[in-house]
Amino acid sequence: MVLLLAACSESAPPGNDPRANPRDAAKVALGAKVYAQHCAACHGAKLEGELDWRRRKPNGRMPAPPHDDEGHTWHHADSVLFGITKRGLVAPYAPPNYESDMPAFGGKLSDDEIWAVLAFIKSRWSARVLPIRAEMTRNAAK
Ligand code: HEC
Repeated sequence: MVLLLAACSESAPPGNDPRANPRDAAKVALGAKVYAQHCAACHGAKLEGELDWRRRKPNGRMPAPPHDDEGHTWHHADSVLFGITKRGLVAPYAPPNYESDMPAFGGKLSDDEIWAVLAFIKSRWSARVLPIRAEMTRNAAK
């Protein structure tokens, strides 16, 4: 939780990267495929995350959080989500030697596929979170 908040306040990049445009239907369709194949096993077919995702597992690691409105994925700028997906939870997204079950997808997915899966995830956020996210982006840019 601390690390996630740090990632929020530290970064002042644009919250909405055009490469992860949730209104680009072709991109969202590609992203849905990538998501089903590479993310759903942990983050849930409906983006619901693992059961009891706020509670640390017995091995000390965190479960996979939801990517829908219930999670905090939407609190992060697109650039941060891209970095976490490509590189995993390493610096600057996590403290040194942080142990996590979130894989790095850099060797498996192209940058385009990563942007597409983010476009898909963003396309599932509701009208409730989008204005809050835009506001956070404006504040971060100040
Ligand atoms: C093997 C299980 C697993 C797979 C597969 C997986 N994740 Fe994760 N993911 C996790 C876990 C566990 C976390 C939480 C890690 C932590 O906090 O230590 C996480 C966290 C994340 C976060 C940070 C969320 C936040 O709120 O800060 C993002 C973004 C993310 N995953 C994206 C993806 C994407 C996109 C895919 C598919 C391309 C994917 N993950 C596939 C397990 C997985």
